[in-house]
Amino acid sequence: MKVLIIGGGGREHALAWRLAQSPEVERVYATPGNPGIARLAACLPAGDGSPGAYLAVAESVDADLTVVGPEAPLVAGVVDAFRARGRAIFGPTAAAAGLEGSKVFAKNFLQQSHIPTAAFVAAPDAAAAHRALDRFTYPVVIKADGLAAGKGVVVAEDRAMAEAALASLKPPFVVEEFLTGEEVSYIVLSDGRNVVPLEPTQDHKAVFDGDAGPNTGGMGAYCDSRILTAAESSTILDGVIRPTIEATGFTGFLYAGLMMTSAGPKVLEFNVRLGDPETQPIMHRMWSDLAPLLLAAARGALPATHIEWKPGPSVCVVLASGGYPGAFSAGKPIDGIDAAEATGATVFQAGTRQGSAGLETAGGRVLGVTASGPDLAAAIDKAYAAARLIHFEGMHYRTDIGRKGLKRYSGATI
Ligand code: AMP
Ligand code: GLY
Repeated sequence: MKVLIIGGGGREHALAWRLAQSPEVERVYATPGNPGIARLAACLPAGDGSPGAYLAVAESVDADLTVVGPEAPLVAGVVDAFRARGRAIFGPTAAAAGLEGSKVFAKNFLQQSHIPTAAFVAAPDAAAAHRALDRFTYPVVIKADGLAAGKGVVVAEDRAMAEAALASLKPPFVVEEFLTGEEVSYIVLSDGRNVVPLEPTQDHKAVFDGDAGPNTGGMGAYCDSRILTAAESSTILDGVIRPTIEATGFTGFLYAGLMMTSAGPKVLEFNVRLGDPETQPIMHRMWSDLAPLLLAAARGALPATHIEWKPGPSVCVVLASGGYPGAFSAGKPIDGIDAAEATGATVFQAGTRQGSAGLETAGGRVLGVTASGPDLAAAIDKAYAAARLIHFEGMHYRTDIGRKGLKRYSGATI
């Protein structure tokens, strides 16, 4: 089959890498893709990035299956546009994508469906949000309603910080109880009825080691079956995922961002797509062929099956531009990717472009250096050994990706 991937980040590079290994996939296309994806797939311009433009690309190559990476085309209705023309696509409709597109919609849905989540007030404007603050203790969480690329959430330590957040974000708002615990990314694929879970992952959202500093899109992630016990996975499947799929008929990758609190798992957010950088370690560990599952799911006939995984954990370390998640400059030459890959790691490209003198930086998160190993310590060491061989001016990365897992599971065997 011919597969088209929509998007051009590290997540899409990892998807392209996995799908290109499938014996059932004759050719991979990506729109717009990136220089890393171009090593495995034919990259085609995305036009104005509208659903119609993506449909035109799929028609031009007669794609048998299209897989959508980022949320924006889903919220804009790319799945609806493909379905109206009878072309297979894996992702949720615009209506179901509202689970990510609007935090107010998602929170109301969670409350009505009795799915555990943080206590909240939806506030249409800043005045209502100010009034709502009286009902919470600090820290309190302030969220902007719409898509914000990971930057629409502020954990406010006091009233002054909460008011500053309300002044800087766009209404409407969700004002929410602060939860504590381990954060887990739980992602499944679904055809609207049947569900196949992926292995759990943990993202590292804060920019600096020890979870310090502002939130980013994600500075690294690891994938390890021990992140959740079998009982915790069942609680999440039965208490969060299945009721959501049943109520919405959701097709695509459904991502529940969870806080594992002392009172059980609670939903922080839904994403209606794979996570970035979670996808990088997930694809690195995936043993089963993903392509036939995605095609079956897009046709509404996902079999009752499970995915096989390589036994060892995997780790992705994000190499970011100087200044990210604040302002950064692009166009810095990148060295060392081949040397890093010669160690056995895989370097997924995100914010890169081909400059006149070779590969250069073009975004905040530039590369995702990903490695697997017989145990978590080995996977971490392998990813960092490879990362140290890469250089670009201003490059920074966290040095503690997966380390919390190492502490949690010390002494335990896989
Ligand atoms: P979200 O986009 O809603 O997942 O929020 C981004 C990040 O903010 C999450 O991954 C958490 O690290 C943090 N966060 C969001 N909501 C809460 C909450 N209610 N309590 C504690 N941390 C939160
Ligand atoms: N890594 C978090 C996300 O993809 O939203």
